[in-house]
Amino acid sequence: MANRLEGQVGVITGGASGIGLACARRYVTEGARVVLGDRNPDALAAAAAELGAAVVSEQVDVTVEADVERLVARAVTEFGGLDVAVNAAGFGTFGFIADHPVDEWRAVIDTCLTGVMLSVKHEGRIMRDAGHGAIVNIVSINARVPAEGMSAYCCAKAGVEMLTRCAAMELGPSGVRVAGIGPGFIDTPMTAFTQVVPAIRDAYLASTPLGRAGQPEDVADAALFLVSEDGRWVSGDTLFVDGASMNKAYPELHKLVGA
Ligand SMILES: NC(=O)c1ccc[n+]([C@@H]2O[C@H](COP(=O)([O-])OP(=O)(O)OC[C@H]3O[C@@H](n4cnc5c(N)ncnc54)[C@H](O)[C@@H]3O)[C@@H](O)[C@H]2O)c1
Repeated sequence: MANRLEGQVGVITGGASGIGLACARRYVTEGARVVLGDRNPDALAAAAAELGAAVVSEQVDVTVEADVERLVARAVTEFGGLDVAVNAAGFGTFGFIADHPVDEWRAVIDTCLTGVMLSVKHEGRIMRDAGHGAIVNIVSINARVPAEGMSAYCCAKAGVEMLTRCAAMELGPSGVRVAGIGPGFIDTPMTAFTQVVPAIRDAYLASTPLGRAGQPEDVADAALFLVSEDGRWVSGDTLFVDGASMNKAYPELHKLVGA
């Protein structure tokens, strides 16, 4: 099936790489025009060049409200409105709580949680006023599965799952749906380090009952379902796209570094 987003306009944060870029490719293939936002100018230029006239790009830091407002406004000025959005910008750090610099904690919370809040705020305003729209927040299995050394990331993602539920209640009466996707282990630049530390990759695969690494396209297909007409009665929930890995303990990464 194609053209499920024909004539629609999207905003994708973290759209220059990995899961966000896969969503952009999928949405464009289905007929959407998309504004890509990312803080990495080189990756953004490459993504925009690949996707052509269906895409415009904006260098933004999602922790800066004026940047997010400018990004979302471009959907209206360039393409005439905003129908769908994917909030994928994010990253993690590694450090045990007793040794974790608070600046690193704040950076993760700022991007992964506050950045999603700012995105939903500005996307939601436009959608609320238009009386329709669908937003997908990229969560993680770490919203529910604790990981040693990843407390900031786990807490930020748990916050995004709850933000998704709250936003779905507030925006639902205006015809706007808000849902989450919780990926498991997905091959993207964020997890590229596992390609060079085989023990870590093996541990991720061992904790994934379906027995392979997820691909960004696995997430993009779910992100298409959620914003399309097929997902019309889904809001507030997070769909875990993880090969069943939520049911297993998270790899003990600190024991595997250097293994
Ligand atoms: N890869 C995985 O295994 C996995 C698993 C669960 C959840 N996730 C989540 O998926 C999302 C996408 O991650 P990915 O794996 O595609 O990683 P990625 O590194 O390929 O892409 C993330 C993008 O976000 C951008 N970004 C980071 N901070 C930003 C900021 N402050 N402002 C604007 N852009 C910013 C980066 O420049 C990058 O292009 C993240 O939220 C991540 O936490 C990834």
